[in-house]
Amino acid sequence: MPMIAILAGDGIGPEVTAEARRVLSALSLDLSFGEAPVGGAAYHATGHPLPPETIDLAERADAILFGAVGDPSCDALPRHLRPEQAILGLRKRLGLFANLRPARLFAGLEDASALKPEIAGRIDMVILRELTGDVYFGEKGMRTTAGGLREGYDVMAYAEDEVRRIVTVGFEMARHRKRKLCSVDKANVLETSQLWRDVVIETAEDYPDIALTHMYVDNAAMQLVRDPGQFDVVVTGNLFGDILSDQASMCAGSIGMLPSASLRAWSGDNGLYEPIHGSAPDIAGQGKANPCAAILSAAMLLRHSLSMDAAADRIEAAVAAAIAGGARTADLGGTLSTRGMADAVLARL
Ligand code: IPM
Ligand code: MG
Repeated sequence: MPMIAILAGDGIGPEVTAEARRVLSALSLDLSFGEAPVGGAAYHATGHPLPPETIDLAERADAILFGAVGDPSCDALPRHLRPEQAILGLRKRLGLFANLRPARLFAGLEDASALKPEIAGRIDMVILRELTGDVYFGEKGMRTTAGGLREGYDVMAYAEDEVRRIVTVGFEMARHRKRKLCSVDKANVLETSQLWRDVVIETAEDYPDIALTHMYVDNAAMQLVRDPGQFDVVVTGNLFGDILSDQASMCAGSIGMLPSASLRAWSGDNGLYEPIHGSAPDIAGQGKANPCAAILSAAMLLRHSLSMDAAADRIEAAVAAAIAGGARTADLGGTLSTRGMADAVLARL
């Protein structure tokens, strides 16, 4: 029986993850669940944001359903003890280099988007974000300049094998979609990006059937608002992908709707699945958060880690039907609670 590790974490993480688990349980799929603390919750309970028992559960699990980490009460801690280190540590440790962040507009949410409805209606893309390299994992620290001033630094670097493996996932994914791949970089300024672009061009030789484009990240941010419908698969590095995926979520209606999958391979075992929204401490504990991103993350888990495609389709169709039927949490301009929104999805399963 497949075992799913539930790492609910901080802020709204526990609220939305509980609803995703209810949806999974409603499908009678013969799954077992294990739970462990992570992030600020784990720090407060054990003194570390990623305790050994949590790592152990994550490594044993067939898939991980992750909530969110981030807790303002931990902001003053040394960096290695901050909640965010838990998710960064899990990604690195489990080798989850490929982060799939699909952004599409559910019919009915045209007015929730920050864009004009006719522009928003065309968005149907996947941001493929590299997740275990870049400036996130380079050498970093605080030092003193020759003039005695404090200086913070973070080294940005990508080795060619790191680029090749994520870009290859991008080309493969494009083959399963509209055969369009846009690689986003900042090659006009950064050496890291020049290498990225060179490797993309080399890899493209094996994929003559894919229409490849390159775009600077500043232009990509602009194009995402001007005409998001032009994108199919976007492949980019860790930092650019972090920023562009939050932006894409608002183009598609709400950050409360966007799931993600973090994988070791294009078709991944043992992946980690999480909403992209984070812990949202301002609304935590109020039952206001939109559980759809977590519920849709559970659907991705079934598809990518457990090969339960039919069950994944059912969840996604139920979310689409609930939205089409007018179910709305506050982020979508409605009044439903977290539980009420999940009930609306469950009613359509
Ligand atoms: C995300 C989040 C994380 C990231 C934080 C919580 C470390 O913003 O998953 O997008 O920057 O990767
Ligand atoms: Mg982010």
